[in-house]
Amino acid sequence: MKKIISLILAVLMICATLMAFASCGKKEDTLVMATNAAFPPYEYKEGDSFKGIDVEIAQAIAEKLGKKLEIADVEFGSIIGGVQEGKYDFGMAGMTVTEKRLESVNFSTTYATGIQVIIVADGSAIESLDSIFVFDENGDPTGLQNPEIKVGVQQDTTGDIYCSDDITNWGLNDVEEDGTITTDRVVRYKTGAEAVAALKSGKVDCVIIDNEPAKSFVAANEGIHILEGDNEYAIEDYAICVAKENTALLEQINKALAELTEDGTIGKIIEKYIPTSN
Ligand code: ARG
Repeated sequence: MKKIISLILAVLMICATLMAFASCGKKEDTLVMATNAAFPPYEYKEGDSFKGIDVEIAQAIAEKLGKKLEIADVEFGSIIGGVQEGKYDFGMAGMTVTEKRLESVNFSTTYATGIQVIIVADGSAIESLDSIFVFDENGDPTGLQNPEIKVGVQQDTTGDIYCSDDITNWGLNDVEEDGTITTDRVVRYKTGAEAVAALKSGKVDCVIIDNEPAKSFVAANEGIHILEGDNEYAIEDYAICVAKENTALLEQINKALAELTEDGTIGKIIEKYIPTSN
């Protein structure tokens, strides 16, 4: 009995300490946004300052809520976990709403559309989606044209998830009896820029990434281009993620987003980074 009581006490003390730590890092007057600032024009760094569509929309939201905005620049794959743990108030990173992510966090109303496109080197044998995938009569991909292809992606993004799922589902990786993948057709990089660098040096045959960052990378690099035309890999919605239990903040964010859409602020921010004449 005594043992059980002291065990319970010990657990309670650990919990209290953890809670104190969690809350002491948080300032009441500040909203902490987690992002991965290597994704122009949504978020990127110029010197020490954060720029981009998400950064400016987040600033406008924080202003509406009477809070200061603090930005945590982290790996894309650690944003959702950090938001769940309460380390960050919300995640905003050109983040696509997916069924799987909705199991872990809530998403705000969407504020932008993303399209997964394909970047290749000039002169590449890959000229369309048809030169990557084999499609059946329903238009569903059933295989790879070149079984040796290497596809570059940013780790944990939808480009990575969809492509990895597709290729695994078709059984196109070299797999050992216990399921271990020996040759993975998908090569994962920490940032989109690193995936693009790998494309330029011939380490991968194409890169699957969101269209606006793709345009920025193509503009900044010679010798690569986006497959134009009907070659979109996926079309998706971007939204802000918030911890499941933080419904109050989600409501405030949605209200702010609606007002900022209504008064034209969001339109202006997007137009500043993605001029419609483009
Ligand atoms: N839209 C994609 C996704 O949600 C890619 C987002 C990558 N964002 C970033 N800031 N690196 O998976």
